[in-house]
Amino acid sequence: MSVNKIIKRVTTNTILDMKANGDKVSMLTAYDYSTARALDEAGIDVLLVGDSAANVFAGYETTLPITLDHMIYHASAVARGAKRALILVDLPFGEYQGTPEDAFKSAVRMMKESGAHALKLEGGVEILDNIKKIIDAGIPVCGHLGLTPQSINKFGTFGVRAQEEAEAEKLKSDALALQEIGCFAIVLEKIPAKLAKEVSESLSIPTIGIGAGNGCDGQVLVVNDMLGFTKDFKPKFLRRYMEMYDGIVEAAAKYAEDVKSGNYPNESEQY
Ligand code: KIV
Repeated sequence: MSVNKIIKRVTTNTILDMKANGDKVSMLTAYDYSTARALDEAGIDVLLVGDSAANVFAGYETTLPITLDHMIYHASAVARGAKRALILVDLPFGEYQGTPEDAFKSAVRMMKESGAHALKLEGGVEILDNIKKIIDAGIPVCGHLGLTPQSINKFGTFGVRAQEEAEAEKLKSDALALQEIGCFAIVLEKIPAKLAKEVSESLSIPTIGIGAGNGCDGQVLVVNDMLGFTKDFKPKFLRRYMEMYDGIVEAAAKYAEDVKSGNYPNESEQY
């Protein structure tokens, strides 16, 4: 007799319950089917199809060039790989900052064509009407404050944000506005730990930190970074759980050696 294990999907309600119960949320980025499958099996709660795909998958310096079509392609591959995790997908630069109708159209396309469960949008009060239009259509939205990489040309650097009081105060009021409008979570990127803790304690929705310290309700990392696949990227907040780049170089060099010496394939590896 075969027993099919029933896997319960993580939903936005699960994420909200985790905050209420004091359970931390684990989130990693994913851009492809095989990685999504492994991360899902490992029990990661949320797979973020981040527009960081522009950097670590496609090799661009910023996240600006990635398109809605690219993101739909990545998200649908991730969605096919994950049975349990919530699939959260970034709307890319230029696809939601115009009118609420523009934002709504992008959101609907992503939901129809990718298998996403929720969307992430960067920004605060400036895009509140656009977020509301999406949430009103029944699409869960996660906010993103602090270092919002789609605004890199405004910031000029990838340094820590909200270190000055005025920017910290704006971040606090943006976070409350996002909660008020109905966001189910907020990513806080590269801000002082003390500020992230204060914001997290002021909200009933969870904050997910990246470079924002231990006071957040969950953590997210770019999977290529935490696996050591991005060789030279070593910011202070990053903990590497593997040295994947070095492992790949070693394996590929051994393969090349075996091919050239005639050691691969051997008799058991042929038909
Ligand atoms: O695109 C991304 O990977 C992100 C995370 C850094 C939060 O937005």
